Amino acid sequence: MELKIYDTKQTVAEEFSGYVSKIATGDQKIHIALSGGSTPKIVFDHLAENYSTQINWENICLYWGDERCVDPSDSESNYKMTVEHLLSKIKIPEGNIFRIKGENDPEAEAERYSEVLQKELPLVDGMPQFDLVILGMGDDGHTASIFPYNIELWDLAANCTVAVHPDSGQKRVSLTGKVINNAKEVAFLVTGTGKADKVHEIIDEQESAKAYPANLVKPNSGNLVWFLDKDAADKIE
Ligand code: 6PG
Repeated sequence: MELKIYDTKQTVAEEFSGYVSKIATGDQKIHIALSGGSTPKIVFDHLAENYSTQINWENICLYWGDERCVDPSDSESNYKMTVEHLLSKIKIPEGNIFRIKGENDPEAEAERYSEVLQKELPLVDGMPQFDLVILGMGDDGHTASIFPYNIELWDLAANCTVAVHPDSGQKRVSLTGKVINNAKEVAFLVTGTGKADKVHEIIDEQESAKAYPANLVKPNSGNLVWFLDKDAADKIE
């Protein structure tokens, strides 16, 4: 596990963008799963403003680690957020974008997206392998859309599952742990004081961390990196 701690969210965005650009080199197709929520916005803005030509987006295939079960035009949609902050500003072929269709029946979409991953990604041990999975973490220690109250979804045999947000009741489609931990690299993108307690509990291997899905992110490759601002890293011992 590698920790990269920076003073500000902006510096995290700059450094994270450089990290992504290094993975997105060469002439091979690169498969990246994006995180949702609000943290990625500043990163996507920086990528769009500074890497629109430095990254060969023709070779980048974009997926999502999770999506809210809403229409792609809904303000809650992770896809909509990504269009606004990144996709609308770069030249990336439509065919390289594999969104989770939040407008579909959740169970059917989890099945469909599981099949998309099986078809589009290289298979390692029979499981889809991303080049990079980008993850956020909630204040409660959730990641993707696997929440502490139903952490058992993490270990499902399926590539994707339907989850329900514990507070809002909003349905989500999420990758499961088997796909996330099969990735060549996994990068957490976590900023803000609200995340400091859980970051400390996970990084410092506290007993309490066992309840958090984010603590289950342990890629088989061993390639796990945390991009943190100093607020989120403030309580690491
Ligand atoms: C989502 C995300 C989720 C997110 C965390 C952190 O759909 O909400 O994928 O896992 O990464 O909740 O969200 P913030 O970046 O908004 O704090």
